[in-house]
Amino acid sequence: MAIAAKPVPTKNDMAAADAVRRERPVTVPDFLAAKTQGRRLTLLTAYDYTFARLLDESGVDGILVGDSLGMVVQGHADSLSVTLEEMIYHTRIVARGVRRSLLITDMPFMSYQVSPQQALENAGRLVKEGGAHAVKLEGGVRCCPAIAAITAADIPVMAHIGLTPQSVRQLGGFKVQRDEERLLNDARAVEQAGAFAVVVECVPTELTRKITSAVRIPTIGIGAGVDCDGQILVVHDMLGLFQELRPKFVKNYADLGADIMRAVQAYCHEVRTGQFPAAEHGFR
Ligand code: KIV
Repeated sequence: MAIAAKPVPTKNDMAAADAVRRERPVTVPDFLAAKTQGRRLTLLTAYDYTFARLLDESGVDGILVGDSLGMVVQGHADSLSVTLEEMIYHTRIVARGVRRSLLITDMPFMSYQVSPQQALENAGRLVKEGGAHAVKLEGGVRCCPAIAAITAADIPVMAHIGLTPQSVRQLGGFKVQRDEERLLNDARAVEQAGAFAVVVECVPTELTRKITSAVRIPTIGIGAGVDCDGQILVVHDMLGLFQELRPKFVKNYADLGADIMRAVQAYCHEVRTGQFPAAEHGFR
């Protein structure tokens, strides 16, 4: 019988596994150091305790409580209706499952756009009531006063440029963003305002490469090619749990949606035919 060759772990894999073993929590300075050391960062979204636990123990560097929960948890067509109270609730339950990863929470639509004061107060609530280590908000140059106000209170901010889903109405849909001058300005501006990292969403690979070399903070790509300092995906997408929208940039690392349906169908069949519960599942 042929024995399958074991994949050889790369330097990156070994560094990540070492960090998990050491159990030292990942910090904002670690994110910045990763860029200078050429170590790619791994981030995924989570919205509840069970997923947070699994992701944290698997060694992801960062867990984002994304407002994508509006779609994959709540079943809306976009993230616009997600409220601050909902983000606090989901952050609190995710925080219970996080021991090591950096926990970042999205500021939902209209929780930071009104004024820097509003942004600071709401970021403070996500940290104090939810347990977030950092917050994320969408937008480049126009969000800089909010980023500056929040970081002045020592709350770390991750920025988000390119396709910003909260602007879906203005952008006319979830479209690739190609305005080079604007994106480079946005990236430089959020760095200048104090962001410790920037998500770059749906931007052509060539342009992302330029953005990544234009700033000292790590770029975290989603649909932005390989030349970022890290990557993020919505966990429901990469596990094949969310069937309704399948963006081109998502890779399915598992097909849990199909697995769940198979398991549920097997359960229904066994209950209906009297095969479950069997003797060993009962009490004497
Ligand atoms: O809301 C979210 O999940 C996000 C990521 C996709 C970056 O913003």
